Order: sequence, then structure tokens, then C-alpha cells
Amino acid sequence: MPSDHPDSASTANRRRSNLDPFHTGPLTTPMTPSTERDNTMTSLPDGFLWGASTAPHQIEGNNVNSDWWAREQVAAGMERSGDAVDSYHRYPEDMRLLADAGLNAYRFGIEWARIEPSEGHISRALLDYYRRMIGTALDLGLTPVVTLHHFTSPRWFAQDGGWLGDKAIDRFRRYVEAATSILDGVPYVATMNEPNMFAMMTMLARMAQDPEQQKKWQSPTTDDGPRPPLPAPDPGIGALFVKAHTAVRDIVRERTDAAVGWTVANRAFVARPGGEEMLRDLQWVWEDLYLEASRDDDFVGVQSYSSQWVGPGGIEPYPPHPDNTQVGTAYRPDALGMAVRHAAEVTGVPVLVTENGIATGDDNRRITYTRDALRGLFAAMDDGIDVRGYLHWSALDNYEWGHWEPTFGLIAVDRETFVRTPKPSLAWLGSVARRGSLDSAVG
Ligand code: FCB
Repeated sequence: MPSDHPDSASTANRRRSNLDPFHTGPLTTPMTPSTERDNTMTSLPDGFLWGASTAPHQIEGNNVNSDWWAREQVAAGMERSGDAVDSYHRYPEDMRLLADAGLNAYRFGIEWARIEPSEGHISRALLDYYRRMIGTALDLGLTPVVTLHHFTSPRWFAQDGGWLGDKAIDRFRRYVEAATSILDGVPYVATMNEPNMFAMMTMLARMAQDPEQQKKWQSPTTDDGPRPPLPAPDPGIGALFVKAHTAVRDIVRERTDAAVGWTVANRAFVARPGGEEMLRDLQWVWEDLYLEASRDDDFVGVQSYSSQWVGPGGIEPYPPHPDNTQVGTAYRPDALGMAVRHAAEVTGVPVLVTENGIATGDDNRRITYTRDALRGLFAAMDDGIDVRGYLHWSALDNYEWGHWEPTFGLIAVDRETFVRTPKPSLAWLGSVARRGSLDSAVG
């Protein structure tokens, strides 16, 4: 969306776009001119965030009051999260590893199913727990980026209508009212993670109530060769999430100083000749519905992993290829630049890269992928796109929504002993962060 779009000039937006989470100057500070400008390098704006991301259910362990935990016990073909990687108890160590490596930001979530384990019972102790997490991040010099909802909901909520029930938005609002009481010092809040993928998952969950369909359960984040592409999310569910997002965005604004937005999965679709119209339709149903809803937000979270062709008949499955990742997607580090450009164009608001990474067992490949993705990001910034930070997915190898095999982490974890072993990619990303450039980074 061009910046002169009427929506972007709304009073609220003007007020919010001057908000400065880092107290380093207005968010609209132009980038300082680069002295060594080439395709791989740009001068980063003050306070640029360099970090890594996680989600509560994927790392904490024993998220027993959540709908995902319940599903894991019954769904065929799904591995269980169990102890996950016990970050529930070990978050100080996890955060310290990131900070020691040179990163200055950590995105994590707070878990509704823990804060409100039964309806209307808000746990003061769990709010205090997440407050300590925020405090630990701040003490370590990590800017906390907090997600309020990352795919998981309380089990009671799911059992009583879930997101499609009449009370969903009121219930979400009540949780967010409680959660916002602990967000002092948090400069960025994401209301919902990947509402577009989550709309698709909510649609699949509705189908999964049918025992026949349960047998066909498919991980939301894996999409390998022979299987059909993931079904498009129902725009009706998308519209509901837009309503939920808007409702809680206002609460976050009233009760905190945080910039607020949501994080949208970007597929970096590219049209084959003749596929242009199909691309427009699919881009709306998968992405733009959600990106358009970001126009009055303070930022948009961009999440990018791969790119996908769209032909006249629809999305083309990723062809089998030796370079494909562990989740079956094509190796496309260039997707990040495409994603950031598209999100900035549609939303007109500042971009924060909230997820980008690769499922691979080969850490050198992770470094190469990330270096190329950052080149694309810097090129977009050189073209004037306002990007506030880069948060890699993921800090830790973790529970990948039904699977343990794909490893996205900068840090490996032994699932028996919970011993953390930083991979070379963590040191590499930390050195990029310290220097603010790719050129002299180790690795
Ligand atoms: C995204 C999710 C995240 C993780 C990565 C690989 O869709 O937000 O939790 O699963 O994919």
C-alpha cells in the first residue's frame, strides 16, 4: 500500500507511527547513508533488532491444558510434544545463549492455556512467571517481542466452540486484558501468529472432528512432494481473526506502550505465464486479507521460508529436489526479500521479520541460506523499505507441530538431558548482529 493511502493517514496510525519503542528517535528515522554500499550491505537503522524466535508450545513442554496437547494424544501420525525442550524451566539459559552470541532480541510467546487453564480462572502465578521471562530478557539486553497467541488455545476454549464459537472474541479479549498487565517494557506485541495459517488449521480442525478425516491429519508447516498443497484458508475464518485482532489491538494500545501488529505467513507466490489471475486470487485468500488488516497496525510481522509457483490451475506442489528442506519446501532464500517487499507494499507500515529460517540437519546450509536471505532483506532496505529487525526461526530445535525431525534451531537440544549445544549458525548470526553487516561475519 502506498503511504498516501487514506487508511495509513488515520489519526491512530499517525499517533502510533511516531511511537519509539527504543527511545532512540522517531520510528520514521531514515536510514543513515551507507559508506560501503553494495548489494550485500546497508546501514541499519538505530535499534535494529537481531534475534531469534520461539513459540511456547514448541519449546516449553507439558502444555497440558492446551488444545494441541489434547490433539496430540489422539491424532494418528502425530508425534507428541511431551517435555518439548523444557524451556519452561530453562528459559534463562536459552536467553543467555542468544545474548552471549551477540543478539539483542528474543521473540517468545505467552501461553493462554497456562494463564487461563480453566475458564475465567486467571493464574496470577503464571502471569508472574511470564513477567519474569520479560524481565530476564530485558536484564540480558534482549528486546522482548511477545506473541499473545501462537496456534495454541486453552483446551476448555477449544471444547466449548473454540474460535468458531460465539464467545471466542470476548474470551480472547479477557485473556489479553490479563496478559497486558505484565507487558511493561515490551516494545513489540504480536496479537496472533500467522492468522492465515491458523485459519487453515482451524478449518482442518473443524474437519478433524470427523473421525474419517482424522486419519488424514497433515502438519501445517510441512508440505512435502507427493502430498497435495495445503488447502486455502476459509476467508470467513480469516475475517473472524481480523475482528479478534482488531479487538485486542485496541486493548494492547490502551494498556501498554508497545507497538502492536500480527505476524503473517508469506508464501512469496510467483505466477507462471497464464497464472496471473490465479495468483491474485490466491494471494488475497492466503495473505492480503490479513495484510490489509495490518494497515492500521504499528508494524507487520513477516514470516518467510520459501517461494511457490502459481500456475493457471493453482499452487504448484514443490517438485522433489535434493535441495528441498526437511519439511519438503524448496530451498529459496530469496523468498525473504520478496515477502518483505510484498508485505510493505500492501500494508504501508514498518516491517519486522518475525520468522525466517530453514529446516535442515546441515548447519552450514543454514548459514548459507540465512546469508542469502539477509542479502535480499538488505537489498529491500536499500530500496527504501522500512525494516525494524530480523528474528530468525528458531532459537532452538523444537517441536515442529506434530514432528520432531525437522530442525530449524540455532541451538541443538538433547531431548533426554536437555543439554543445549549452540550451533555455528548462532555464532555466525551473532557476529552479523554485532557488526551490522554480512561481510566480515565469521563462518
Ligand atoms: C511457522 C510457525 C512456527 C514454525 C515455523 C517453522 O509457520 O509460525 O511456529 O512452525 O513455521
